[in-house]
Amino acid sequence: MKFNSKQLIFDCSKLLRTHQQYRLKSYVAQTSEIPATVKPYKDIPGPRPIPLLGNTWRLLPIIGQYQIADFANVCDILHKEYGKICKLSGLVGRPDLLFVYDANEIEKVYRHEGPTPYRPSMPCLVYYKSVVRKDFFGDLPGVVGVHGEPWREFRTRVQKPVLQLHTVRKYIEPIEVVTNDFIQRMNEMKDENDEMPSDFDNEIHKWALECIGRVALDVRLGCLDPNLSPDSETQKIIDAAKYALRNVAILELKMPFWRYIPSSLWTKYVKNMNYFIEICMKHIDAAMQRLKQKNVTSDKDLSLIERILTSEKDPKIAYVLALDLILVGIDTISMAVCSILYQLATRPEEQEKIHQELLKALPDPNTPLTSKHLEQVPYLKAFIKEVFRVYSTVIGNGRTLQQDLEICGYHVPKGIQCVFPTIITGNMEDYVTNASTFMPERWLSKHSENSSNNTIHPFASLPYGHGARMCLGRRFADLEMQILLAKVSF
Ligand code: HEM
Repeated sequence: MKFNSKQLIFDCSKLLRTHQQYRLKSYVAQTSEIPATVKPYKDIPGPRPIPLLGNTWRLLPIIGQYQIADFANVCDILHKEYGKICKLSGLVGRPDLLFVYDANEIEKVYRHEGPTPYRPSMPCLVYYKSVVRKDFFGDLPGVVGVHGEPWREFRTRVQKPVLQLHTVRKYIEPIEVVTNDFIQRMNEMKDENDEMPSDFDNEIHKWALECIGRVALDVRLGCLDPNLSPDSETQKIIDAAKYALRNVAILELKMPFWRYIPSSLWTKYVKNMNYFIEICMKHIDAAMQRLKQKNVTSDKDLSLIERILTSEKDPKIAYVLALDLILVGIDTISMAVCSILYQLATRPEEQEKIHQELLKALPDPNTPLTSKHLEQVPYLKAFIKEVFRVYSTVIGNGRTLQQDLEICGYHVPKGIQCVFPTIITGNMEDYVTNASTFMPERWLSKHSENSSNNTIHPFASLPYGHGARMCLGRRFADLEMQILLAKVSF
């Protein structure tokens, strides 16, 4: 099984910044002055830009020095060449990227992020939401690619139901059902040597899409059906998801020229996004009709989407939430699962430990999983955390500075986009004891108590980010990964 595609969570946008600056005025005023002795921004090391093309040429196909498809490698090269801080300046159409490989400084940036943190992300989506389809998104465009007050307003409205444990636990049974179907597919697909096909990651994407459809649209999309006709709605959704996932990085980093001349890639991107909106509206409207017929006695009877539909007058909130969850909830988790399954397959000792732990928690594998069972598998959860630390599929996170800040002894002006490459910092001896050893035990409290030299800097490995903007789907993501790992490990 191959999995070299990596997820990049940060990117850039200047749009909507005015809202944010307005809100942050009072916060910025409280922050401390940077001493004049601090070194100037221009002295931060990094590759030298050339006239006209700046450093963008280094990211271009063929002539470029850095393979943007392997951004983890770019982060690694820059770290090795320039140390704990490195600046990639002179990028066409976007602000500088500042790579920070110091966990203490990453912590500092997060702690100064203010009430409406700005994660530079998906400029295509920002443009789509705020310009191309402003008619649809209006003043509450969701959380992904949205900043300032509109972000805060939307996140406040949806955060409670999405993160509440009792809502998330309602999905153990539906996700187990989807996962059982997936395991049946795995059994059908394996060859005479019990190997999965080389495009197995496609099937994992379908499992992820099926899970997110169940959570965000209240529907079984049917993605795991092996005999889908090419013009079925399900196949079209799979194709649209694939298109979105494969082309966003190209549009945003390799060919950012759509901002000036709309390319065919950009036109297809817009068409694709419009299709997603259509699908979300269709399924949410159906959920609304079902809700009208439902006998509801308490919140506990409601699914996530039904809770949103009940608490919000405007179904638009549910449409936009569903769209955001689908957009970021497929590739992130699929890549994580590819990494987890690969590590599991190649580590028989850890495999056995997970198996024994499961046998203890759940002697009969046919018993439906409950939250109690999942509480009794700390090693399985630690295994996932260790895979994230060592082989994180989220290369990094980022924040656009909303005020000047001293970072690694340099004066960094506001507006600069900081990148925190968790894939590098999670593997640095400075922050993790025996960093090169794969050791899930390091995450178990019993182990940390017994071992005085087992330290992990809390900001070195942050797969879900940090603070008010932390991953909104993290509880669902954890649940999906734990269920899948439990089911394949029996
Ligand atoms: C293992 C899988 C996943 C990983 C590693 C991951 C990681 C992340 C990270 C690093 C961020 C940025 C956080 C920050 O800025 O501090 C993020 C944001 C987000 N994630 Fe995830 N994610 C995963 C799965 C999911 C899933 C399954 C969903 C949907 C159910 C989801 C929904 C979101 C949303 C909506 C945001 C934007 C939050 C905001 O800006 O307010 N994620 N994720």
